Amino acid sequence: MAANTIPVITIDGPSASGKGTVAQIVAKELGFHYLDSGALYRLVALKAMQTETNLVNEKILSDIAKNLDVIFINNDINLEGNNVSNTIREERCGINASKIASYQLVRESLMARQRAFRQDPGLVTDGRDMGSVIFPDSNLKVFLTASAEIRAKRRYNQLIEKGINANIADLLKDIQLRDERDSNRSLAPLQHNTDARLLDTTSLSISQAVNKVLSWYSKI
Ligand code: DC
Repeated sequence: MAANTIPVITIDGPSASGKGTVAQIVAKELGFHYLDSGALYRLVALKAMQTETNLVNEKILSDIAKNLDVIFINNDINLEGNNVSNTIREERCGINASKIASYQLVRESLMARQRAFRQDPGLVTDGRDMGSVIFPDSNLKVFLTASAEIRAKRRYNQLIEKGINANIADLLKDIQLRDERDSNRSLAPLQHNTDARLLDTTSLSISQAVNKVLSWYSKI
């Protein structure tokens, strides 16, 4: 098969590290498309909750993943015609997304959908396995992280800004649990692979992190 020459920047990292914000701004700066792969897992979790699907039923969950009727329009995500952009950010969706993300059939069902985002003039994508599994030939691989405490604080501010109730101590616990689950699963675990550049944003502003990624990209 001929190599795909459309450029891709992959930004992987743990929950609430700010990778989504950074990826979105980098995409805008470069005029590239943007894929929030975590949103797909969150959508499967939401649909499973709506249909009261048992989260241990891998086959039904993978069918949900395969048949997701979702449209991404700018910053809005429409599931079956309903705008669920805020709903999928709720912690219950994140926690259940992390649980179902350990299933091979679910991951396989979402693979082609993710790769289809690689369109001209380029793509910036964020997730856990973007550089390792979905786009192993990506032009620039970044592993973006920050301390769990600062991530809990950022997630707290994000939720409050959206009018969603939150508690920092609970968020920190969720983040630590999610890190553990996402890092220790056998399939496509969250990990800093040696071919990805490490970007620790604990003491960086968003624009400093964005500039770092843009500067790396300009030099490849
Ligand atoms: O990035 P996020 O917090 O929105 O992702 C929600 C969950 O989805 C995360 O806990 C693990 C899973 N996920 C994954 O397994 N692989 C991805 N590429 C993206 C997300």
